[in-house]
Amino acid sequence: MDEITAEALNPEEFIKQKVDEISGTVGDGLAINALSGGVDSSAVTMLGHRALGDRLKTYFIDNGIMRQGEPERIVSVFKDLGVHVEVIDARTEFFDAMRGITDPEEKREAITQTFYRDVFGRLVKESGAKHLLQGTILTDVDETVAGIKRQHNVFLQLGIDPEKTFGYKIIEPLIQLRKDGVRKVAEALGLPEEIYNRMPFPGPALAARVIGEATPERIETVRQATAITEEELADVRAFQYMAILHEDRVTGMRNGERDYGAQIEIRCWDSVDARTARPTRLSYDLLDRLAERITNEVPGVVSVTYGIATKPPSTMEVV
Ligand code: XMP
Repeated sequence: MDEITAEALNPEEFIKQKVDEISGTVGDGLAINALSGGVDSSAVTMLGHRALGDRLKTYFIDNGIMRQGEPERIVSVFKDLGVHVEVIDARTEFFDAMRGITDPEEKREAITQTFYRDVFGRLVKESGAKHLLQGTILTDVDETVAGIKRQHNVFLQLGIDPEKTFGYKIIEPLIQLRKDGVRKVAEALGLPEEIYNRMPFPGPALAARVIGEATPERIETVRQATAITEEELADVRAFQYMAILHEDRVTGMRNGERDYGAQIEIRCWDSVDARTARPTRLSYDLLDRLAERITNEVPGVVSVTYGIATKPPSTMEVV
């Protein structure tokens, strides 16, 4: 299918067409979808509810690697929009699956399998749904097919048939769009600005921001650093900003004693479509404040750095 650029997109027409397609494909059956609160899955949730009403069951999978307060916040935003979201506590399952894994692609694969095979497989069986709706966009497909990063939600383009592998069909209404197009559609669907203008967040969530093993403790460290980073950079007009936990520890000092501690890297990107990106020229005052808050407020962190390389050759996330 061909790309629809944000300039060429007519959101109202697009919505009408996708609602018809979803209704036609699902017929009088049931479908499920997972809402993460990002703009892609939020747009899909609204499209699916327009098409199917109560015949779409929307779940928030609490995988233990989301940002602070996310499940509560997203459930409440969608409640205001009249959409019921059920939270599934799958934290133990995900941490068990990631135990001992340090390789980036193996980590992504463990998350993918836990989502699609274990958690969705079970939800599909329990609900009787035959279709899963999800918000894959064109950029996800491009990078996966190019072998750069295996995005968690790409199957057919890799020759994987979800129906054979997982037992359900996948519908991807946003597959012709990039992020800027999805934002237009999300706004036209009546989503609040905090959602349609929300910065991107990866499917593998905070596990994409922990170099090495994603244990509950290490995820908690990056979660706290992320909360501070998002608070301090909220007024910066950047494409995306993040905190990353490095695998190596470094020698620091606290109260006159040696403290061999953790290292956080901040990245803040200027980008239009995530295909290329440059670090934002943040002020030194802001960088100072970030370093001070993170070393004081996040237990065990003794070093904070700012990523200054471009994409390529970097990518935006570290995993
Ligand atoms: P990279 O790290 O590839 O990221 O430069 C480009 C954009 O994609 C996001 N990203 C993902 N999004 N599933 C997603 O839905 C993924 O597996 C994934 N990996 C990276 C990343 O946050 C950035 O916006």
